[in-house]
Amino acid sequence: MKDEQSYRTTESALRERVKELTCLFQIAQIAAKPHKLLKDTLQEIVALLPSAWKYPEITQARLLLDKVAYTTPGFREGYQKLSADVVINGVYRGELEITYLDEKPEIDVGPFLKEEQYLINAVARQLELVIENKQAEEDKIKLQDQLRHADRLATIGMLAAGVAHELNEPLGNILGFAQLAKKLPEVSEQVRQDLAKIEQASLYAREIIQKLLFFARQQPLKKDRVNLNQLVENGLSFLEARCTKEDINLVRKLNSQVPDIMADPSQIHQTLVNLVVNAIQAMPEGGRLTVRTDASEDNVILMVEDTGTGMDEELIENIFMPFFTTKEMGTGLGLPVVHGIVTAHGGTIKVDSKVNFGSRFVVQLPIKSDDDSEGNS
Ligand SMILES: Nc1ncnc2c1ncn2[C@@H]1O[C@H](COP(=O)(O)OP(=O)(O)OP(=O)(O)O)[C@@H](O)[C@H]1O
Ligand SMILES: [Mg+2]
Repeated sequence: MKDEQSYRTTESALRERVKELTCLFQIAQIAAKPHKLLKDTLQEIVALLPSAWKYPEITQARLLLDKVAYTTPGFREGYQKLSADVVINGVYRGELEITYLDEKPEIDVGPFLKEEQYLINAVARQLELVIENKQAEEDKIKLQDQLRHADRLATIGMLAAGVAHELNEPLGNILGFAQLAKKLPEVSEQVRQDLAKIEQASLYAREIIQKLLFFARQQPLKKDRVNLNQLVENGLSFLEARCTKEDINLVRKLNSQVPDIMADPSQIHQTLVNLVVNAIQAMPEGGRLTVRTDASEDNVILMVEDTGTGMDEELIENIFMPFFTTKEMGTGLGLPVVHGIVTAHGGTIKVDSKVNFGSRFVVQLPIKSDDDSEGNS
């Protein structure tokens, strides 16, 4: 009789171990699936955890990672809880917890077996590895996307520069001869008007070519000492009236500690204007436009923020492509020009945006430019 009982206990303990091992094996299988998003992987792992516990039907699991919760369906706060911290690279990121929906008699750790505490610890370690690997994988993909994007912009830049150079000369001729012909005494009024139209159209085309050359970074930089705050104050004074008219509250947050940099003042002015005009155009019903300056150890920072329409991911993907526009009268060259200028200065530009909330463009320009480091500024 005693033998019979001890046999049953051993058998039930063994069954528990098999459940636990199966659970760990299944986690490993889920983690090994390629091309799965981290959040889906975590969700799938959390969903299979109850099966490894003593009372699967009343067991719920919840993983809190960076304040985001992944739970078994219909999760509610339970009576008794077993938990393990999730720590990645020495940083606490959240916890894994198992709860019972009904109260159960006390055994080792509350109502849980001590093996179940070992199990939840083992699962937490496995989750840490999965999270670390998946995040590294996602970072790599993001980096590859960025590189591909930069590569595409560089190719378009080269093409644009080639076309712009080729068109510049014939366009100069068209403009020059139209202007000359207009001055001839014997041309009729009608012809003079037509020539004026040719002149205007060529000037417009020349402007586009200029922008393309900016985008392709083919415009020589005329570097001078630039104080970003002064440049912003100056630039905004021209745009203030337009903001008032459009019911836009213009807020300046200029950090007086921003150091001077060596840069092309007219190009940085152009950058500011292009960003601010876009921000104004994104708020047809009015709103708030914030222009900030700041400095980090290596960079000066210009931020232009609006509370306008915002952009979704797909739109953001395209905004630096030349001729990409969503505006009836836009050329789609504003941001490509900004990108060209910022890159030519050795800086970076980043965008943060949320549909219906607004956008923020952050330009960083190095305090020490490449020329300085070579000692020939
Ligand atoms: N602050 C912003 N808020 C929302 N969308 C923006 C913002 N800035 C740019 N965009 C989007 O990016 C597109 C490209 O901008 P870009 O400045 O290059 O060209 P554009 O403004 O359309 O034309 P142009 O600058 O020649 O007037 C815009 O058409 C718009 O869809
Ligand atoms: Mg624009």
